[in-house]
Amino acid sequence: MAQDDNIYYTRGMEVPETPEPGAEPDFWEKTAVVGKPSPRVDGYERLSGTAVYPADIKLPNMIYGAILRCPHPNARVKKLDAGRARQMPGVRALITGDSDEAKNLKWRYNNFTAPLLDPHCRFEGEAVAAVAADTPYQARDALAAIDVEYEVLPHLADHDRAMDENAPKVHKTGNLVGKDKYSRGDVEKGFDRADAVLERTYHTQCELHTPMELHGCVANWEGDRLTIWESSQGVYAVQSTISEVLDLPFSRVRVIGHYMGGGFGSKLQPGKYTVLAALMARQAARPVKMTLTREETYLSVGNRPASTMHLKAGVRSDGTLTALDFRCTGPSGAYPAGGTSLMDWLVRDLYQCDNVSCRSNDVYINAGPARPFRAPGHPQGSWALEQMIDELAEKTGMDPVDLRLKNIPEVSQARGGMPYTTTGLRRCILEGAEKFGWKTAVEKARQHNRSNGHVKRGAGMAACLWIAGGGGQPSTVVIRLFRDGSINLNMGASDIGTGTKTIMAQVAAEELGVRPEMIQIEHADTGTTQYATPSGGSKTVPTEAPTVRNAALEVKRRVLEMASEDLGVPAEDLDYTGAEIVSRSNKDKRIQVTEVSRLKKRGVVMGVGYRGPNPEKKTVNPFGAQFCELEVNLKTGEIRILRFVAAHDSGRVMNRLTYDNQVFGGIVMGIGFGLTEFRQLDARQTGKLCNRNWHDYKLPTALDVPADMESLPIEIDDPEANNTGAKGLGEPVTIPTAPAIANALYMATGIRFTRAPVTPIEVRRHLDLQKEV
Ligand code: MOS
Repeated sequence: MAQDDNIYYTRGMEVPETPEPGAEPDFWEKTAVVGKPSPRVDGYERLSGTAVYPADIKLPNMIYGAILRCPHPNARVKKLDAGRARQMPGVRALITGDSDEAKNLKWRYNNFTAPLLDPHCRFEGEAVAAVAADTPYQARDALAAIDVEYEVLPHLADHDRAMDENAPKVHKTGNLVGKDKYSRGDVEKGFDRADAVLERTYHTQCELHTPMELHGCVANWEGDRLTIWESSQGVYAVQSTISEVLDLPFSRVRVIGHYMGGGFGSKLQPGKYTVLAALMARQAARPVKMTLTREETYLSVGNRPASTMHLKAGVRSDGTLTALDFRCTGPSGAYPAGGTSLMDWLVRDLYQCDNVSCRSNDVYINAGPARPFRAPGHPQGSWALEQMIDELAEKTGMDPVDLRLKNIPEVSQARGGMPYTTTGLRRCILEGAEKFGWKTAVEKARQHNRSNGHVKRGAGMAACLWIAGGGGQPSTVVIRLFRDGSINLNMGASDIGTGTKTIMAQVAAEELGVRPEMIQIEHADTGTTQYATPSGGSKTVPTEAPTVRNAALEVKRRVLEMASEDLGVPAEDLDYTGAEIVSRSNKDKRIQVTEVSRLKKRGVVMGVGYRGPNPEKKTVNPFGAQFCELEVNLKTGEIRILRFVAAHDSGRVMNRLTYDNQVFGGIVMGIGFGLTEFRQLDARQTGKLCNRNWHDYKLPTALDVPADMESLPIEIDDPEANNTGAKGLGEPVTIPTAPAIANALYMATGIRFTRAPVTPIEVRRHLDLQKEV
């Protein structure tokens, strides 16, 4: 690469001192690249279609896999005859539960281990057998030729019936996965002190992960080394599961996941399909591509579990919360999968309250296992808590904004009073309300509703925090500076569509003085890149960005040492500008980075960065508040969202473009949760999934999303969180959306919609009920 001024941004700028080896760098007071609205470093590849996703991979001699799935929610495979299927045209591999390749293999659902191809299928869509053939159609034709005799067993589809004595048992041991309990203070005393006590039951539906890109992989063996291209949030997580199932050393399992089209938690781990692809690739001695259909993903790769939540809350007339008592039930599905995970966290921790009791029952039903889904548990708990807070506000005659402001905690009560590194909850609520024009919006809606029209208006808000974020997971990053001044960033983390690569390029660029697009990134490949945990939990940026920064600082330090030999000046006296190294005490002593002798000889300088732990006695959490204005057509039940304002404290804004994209995406997903999406099982009869495609499973489209969405970052310096100050954004942005909508719906209609999603049918059902009374 030519020594072009253009690649450096720091020429002539004052540059910060480079810290000693091992020393934690100073928090950035000012940044030149980080925080700027940088376009995606891979924008061209994504837009032009040249980005290679696992579904695009085509290898010589590749064949196509398909999985035979149980069509019943609970059934035993009595007889399976694959004789006819084996003779079908193009068939190259076939695996059943009795095949040598599969019969001793186990699959783990959390802490529950079952045979990989279990003759007892406890959910519709459980894998029974697999075929690989020359074409995808031949593979599916062959599946149809496998003769299976099932013994269909009674099924359980409704989690509220799971603990009934006569409910079908999903497992011999019964239908309870586990119970969880939390309490502080004394809720009974708290209720005694209250001026008003309210009790409500809330329901949220099962929501299905719908990433654009289907789940899938390509598996290929070279000798005893397995390479997998997987649509995944974390290549090292795939490596570890596949190694465990196939009993291979990590080093022989290479997992590559350069591009992937969304996961939202459902791609934090591989599926049985990955193992089956690997087994068939070995059997056929050919690469196998396995891409699930939308139907298969809806049945088997996870979901946000439904919930039944009971919340009792006490408040004093001045708005002090005196007690919160929360009980919830949620289904893990047919195997343990965290059916009630984190559902109670907001009740425990969002508002100041001395007396809190939470109890949850995680139960089995005959349906596909749950998986983490963008902010696991939080949108459910938020649906209950944030509507309850609104009701308490009405009861005490307070504005819902004021009632929330009255109960802002200064510490994490659920963590025994541990301080937050920073909390922007108050500012999110206050400044969000200001930006939204809360008082005016409420006034205008009320005024509008006094007229006789059948279109009513409402404004609503909800606040949130997110339990995780903050990062602190182990990570290693390598940055290499070549002798021509170009830079290579090597990290294991996946970019799940959120712009991780772009942000990491900005971080490296910030320290190394070049423009972000000058940084070439190698990532998400267990064969060639460094260790990282899966991209999830809103912790990718706060985990990886400080690691990248540390690696960049290491490169800088090494180059300064080398340059000190050329210049005869101690390294501590040198500044690194990217283009040049300059002595602070004698400006005449300077050298181009590309002229440093030892760099020229060696060809490359390498810096390794590690992620240090988060502060021990503090917790790092993102906070937020969202505000919504909408219209309801009382005749049709249709809801039109007019606008949203989302105020989020996620620490430093690393890139305003990717930041806003996260915020808007979170709102859209929250609209789906609040208004349109639900898994419909045929509970009474077959127990099968009724809405198994995009026609019947209604995702919000452009028509359901307001054009007027505003993102308001509440940027509070957080030097304690980590050396970049980012706290994590991906999940909090979808937590308060649905209850903000529900609260606005209440203002519009006078109806408390306790059951999500609020479809037009649900609106009309409530209005008809009112009429009957
Ligand atoms: Mo997320 S639910 O940690 O991908």
